[in-house]
Amino acid sequence: MLKKFERYPLTFGPTHIEKLDRLSSHLGGKVEIYAKRDDCNSGLAFGGNKLRKLEYIIPDALRSGADTLVSIGGVQSNHTRMIAAVAAKIGFKCRLVQESWVPREDAVYDRVGNIMLSRIMGADVQMVDEGFDIGIRQSWEDAIEDVKARGGKPYAIPAGASVHKYGGLGYVGFAEEVRAQEEELGFKFDYIVVCTVTGSTHAGMLVGFAADGRQRRVIGIDASFTPAQTRAQVLEIARRTADLVELGKDLVEGDVVLLEDYAYPVYGVPSEETKAAIRLCARLEGMITDPVYEGKSMQGMIDLVRKGYFPEGSRVLYAHLGGAPALNGYGYTFRNG
Ligand SMILES: Cc1ncc(COP(=O)(O)O)c(C=O)c1O
Repeated sequence: MLKKFERYPLTFGPTHIEKLDRLSSHLGGKVEIYAKRDDCNSGLAFGGNKLRKLEYIIPDALRSGADTLVSIGGVQSNHTRMIAAVAAKIGFKCRLVQESWVPREDAVYDRVGNIMLSRIMGADVQMVDEGFDIGIRQSWEDAIEDVKARGGKPYAIPAGASVHKYGGLGYVGFAEEVRAQEEELGFKFDYIVVCTVTGSTHAGMLVGFAADGRQRRVIGIDASFTPAQTRAQVLEIARRTADLVELGKDLVEGDVVLLEDYAYPVYGVPSEETKAAIRLCARLEGMITDPVYEGKSMQGMIDLVRKGYFPEGSRVLYAHLGGAPALNGYGYTFRNG
């Protein structure tokens, strides 16, 4: 599906699929849980889902004659860390807008984890006191203009690289990769669980898995706490991406399965149940998930298994998308483990 698109390699190659035996049996053993480790996909600044997306965006940035990547996220954004890493790798400058998307309790929240890594990698980091919103932001548009005013040539990448014209392609590739791995494994996954916020990870998977009719088996766990906006954005990106890859099928609202029950109390703040899921997965599998994204999709998957949402015998693939560096901003939350 992606042959006609240029790809700039930023990842190690296909990511490992690992069976989570102890978690599966802890949850009753009726469902087999696997994790696809996109959190370990690269040597670039701890990797993560954005690199798959950026592999299809960077060729356009290089062709454009730009010299500065400009992007936006919350203070502990994984996405902006990945932009800083990629800018360093391709020899671009990097301008990042970091908005106050999360009510924080740690005094060092803006000094550690992702933002610290972005600063170490040389990004020009600008703090902006605006709340959470996955849409296009004035602060980001202002930063693009500011780069121009200073004589730079910006290449603009929106939050999560999601509403970028090529933002959905990387996770079409994920689905193709899973299909190839299924051939080797000798079975197919019945469900794919993914954390959804700005939407292009989920949207790319929808398009990729629609190729074999599995789009409704992609179970999005909302972590935005603004699910209507996220759902609409997933569908819009999926439709645009389907056109680009010439899927030849229409995607409809019902294809976007987005479960809204796990994002509380708000984006970026873990509930007691999210914290419990993070601890459970860490203690049974040594697999680290974060309080903003993957801990919420882990919580969702655990709850769905417990509720019997997946029929007995199902094989469930948890897409681990990265995000662990943000844990450094939650030292108070986990002060006792
Ligand atoms: C670790 C992690 N998981 C999940 C997501 C959600 O992906 P998307 O924004 O493409 O919906 C993100 C980014 O927003 C992320 O950094």
